[in-house]
Amino acid sequence: MIKVLGTGSYLPEKILSNHDLAVTVDTSDEWIYKRTGIKERRIASVDEATSDLAVKAAEKAIKSSNLKARDIELIIVGTSTPDYTIPAAAPIIQKKLKCNNAFAFDVNSVCTSFTVAFLNAYSLISSGFYKNCLVIGADTYSRILNWKDRSTCVLFGDGAGAIVVAADKTKKGILSYFYSADGHGAEYIMIPVGGSKNPLANVDKYPKEDLFFKMDGKKVYEFTISKIPDTAEILIDKAKLKANDIDWVILHQANLRIIEAVSKRLKLSKDKFIVNIDKTGNTSSASIPIAIDEAVNKNLIKPNDLIMMIGFGGGLSWGGVIFEW
Ligand code: ACO
Repeated sequence: MIKVLGTGSYLPEKILSNHDLAVTVDTSDEWIYKRTGIKERRIASVDEATSDLAVKAAEKAIKSSNLKARDIELIIVGTSTPDYTIPAAAPIIQKKLKCNNAFAFDVNSVCTSFTVAFLNAYSLISSGFYKNCLVIGADTYSRILNWKDRSTCVLFGDGAGAIVVAADKTKKGILSYFYSADGHGAEYIMIPVGGSKNPLANVDKYPKEDLFFKMDGKKVYEFTISKIPDTAEILIDKAKLKANDIDWVILHQANLRIIEAVSKRLKLSKDKFIVNIDKTGNTSSASIPIAIDEAVNKNLIKPNDLIMMIGFGGGLSWGGVIFEW
């Protein structure tokens, strides 16, 4: 099975507070904090792309794993904001890290990407195909947001998190998993222009805002508030556990109200939930590995702890695992 050998995260230096945003769009600290739990978020500098954030997080993860870059055999990057449309971010990150023995590929399930990347890593390690794997979640939503759209631009921040996982026969690994998708909600989270459906070649035909991230927040909220507490219960049942057996719950940090809804449904103390959305905003696929790294650095997560992590977002897509640390 698998063991986590090391973790790392990186947040850009620039802090953008709710008060700063209230200067440029019609919003307020009170509205944002009450609706989401967000106080501030980080914004990548002009010369930082997703791969740069990812490399900084990954260097820390590799260092704390006590492996060398050449020991990494596989790099899986969860991202929906790669440096370029083509190629994937992963080979660029592989080159910068000098992980010369690693195969590298991206996974894009929007905000669910990290948990999907983790499942891929687990499967490829369990099969015996690969031994040491670097799993990264990295996104720079500041680059795809419409900064005039108050309904989305206040929600997101930039960042990256990484973990190194390796084969370990003494560990139980994943105790349960549950992943699902519903393409009926594909248009609820979308950048309409720039793909094969509405190609950039016809850019003049489309409204300018269709080049940017769009979200029907209400519809996405209804989906998460119904599916994510259910997913938590399914994972606990499949693992034949009681909610209280879980040591730490790490949910995608999209909205504090969603985290509170899961805590209420499971009747599980909020103290068991790792929460950092107030400082980061929604960092998409980076949110779970950043929260994991912060919890490790605070000595909260200990060997053999049972961790439940659940991601959710565009697609629509959602899912996660319970695994032994
Ligand atoms: N500041 C002030 N007012 C605002 C803002 C803002 N930033 N944004 C919207 N409003 C207004 C709206 O215009 C609306 O006004 P109206 O009633 O006059 O029409 C009012 O506030 C209420 O808007 P709602 O959209 O109903 O607000 P809601 O309470 O639903 O909160 C939010 C919005 C926070 C976006 C919520 O819907 C949410 O969290 N959705 C889920 C997001 C999510 O989970 N995403 C995960 C995946 S993200 C991914 O995959 C990339």
